[in-house]
Amino acid sequence: VTAGAAGADTAAIWTIAHRGAAGYAPENTAAAFDMAVHMKADLLELDVQLSRDGELVVIHDLSVDRTTNGKGEVRDMTLRELQALDAGSWYGPDYRGQRILSLTDFLTRYARTGVGYLIEIKEPSLYPGIEQRLAQELEVHGLTRSGAPPVIVQSFDLESLVRFKQFLPFIPVGLLTYDDRDLDSDRLRRLARTVEYVNPHLALVTEEAIRKIRQYHLKTMVWTVREPNQAELLLAYRVDGIITDYPDYVLWRSSSF
Ligand code: G3P
Ligand code: CA
Repeated sequence: VTAGAAGADTAAIWTIAHRGAAGYAPENTAAAFDMAVHMKADLLELDVQLSRDGELVVIHDLSVDRTTNGKGEVRDMTLRELQALDAGSWYGPDYRGQRILSLTDFLTRYARTGVGYLIEIKEPSLYPGIEQRLAQELEVHGLTRSGAPPVIVQSFDLESLVRFKQFLPFIPVGLLTYDDRDLDSDRLRRLARTVEYVNPHLALVTEEAIRKIRQYHLKTMVWTVREPNQAELLLAYRVDGIITDYPDYVLWRSSSF
């Protein structure tokens, strides 16, 4: 957690490790998440989809082609088939043997670290029922109890967030966007009835855009920071969270790093 760039305002700004510390290790694997926890990121960002046999799995692309040694669509493969793949070698030989994590494995692995989670539901239209499955998983892992680490669910699909809220109304949700029309006043006013966060792509962000989001009592986490000067800017704008492949770019400002 880092104070504002000016140092005067001490409200927390979360450092959020995008797909883990994806700048340093293969995205969405234990290696990347372990690195982020080691760096003291506040939240881990991860992408979830459903395997053919209905298990929540942590992977970004709809196919396994880019980030594993296999080929095919995530939704066509069972958890067992997905976990037989090597999800690390594509990044470098040191990471051979990294596996696609189930959400269960992921939440178990980090349960005692105190780290929070920013969970993205990926392409929910392909995965009917994914919101209910996610809600069940969060409950099973005690993440709906008071005192649990922060959990926020985000998606580019607003309908999916509405469905998720039916199951767990008290877990905050965020709309991801790269569309500047989502930052129009009327749209923000309507969004504020449904979501707690509007999370824009960096390219949409100006000081005025952040001010407008706040005007409607929404919070904002911005993605994806890959340069130190981008982190500087967002700290100065006092966003609520900075989603970054390089958590150290944000955390070097904090005394805890
Ligand atoms: O957390 C924001 C970001 O993850 C959204 O884009 O493509 O990296 O999932 P993507
Ligand atoms: Ca994501």
